[in-house]
Amino acid sequence: MAELRNQTIHPYTDLLLHDMGPGLADNLGEGNATGAEWRTPPLWSIGLTPGVSRTGEAYLHDGRARTLDEAILWHDGEGAASREAFRAMSVSDRAALIAFLKSL
Ligand code: HEM
Repeated sequence: MAELRNQTIHPYTDLLLHDMGPGLADNLGEGNATGAEWRTPPLWSIGLTPGVSRTGEAYLHDGRARTLDEAILWHDGEGAASREAFRAMSVSDRAALIAFLKSL
């Protein structure tokens, strides 16, 4: 459909595999991916999770994170700097980031 061509979208992912450290590793390699590498999922629409997921909120590849805060705090390896930035934020900045994620 012509209307759908050439649109700019913001999926909030680079769609790449990243080494997320031993805490998130399942040590089961798949193809070229090691057991510590995961694809960055699109954060676009993540705010709808509580309304559409039958099991409630469950983030990360195995659903271990029950909140967005927990999902961010599990970041390690290539995501460690983001986790530390989140940890260092003021309470109000954290709340603003979570509100932003829920708005996507
Ligand atoms: C402020 C920065 C960041 C925020 C707010 C953020 C947030 C999130 C959230 C909420 C999830 C869970 C998504 C879901 O379960 O659907 C996630 C997963 C993930 N993020 Fe980030 N992230 C950030 C930075 C990064 C960086 C810098 C990397 C890597 C270079 C990264 C790599 C990943 C990967 C690979 C996953 C999937 C992990 C898994 O399934 O176990 N993130 N992120």
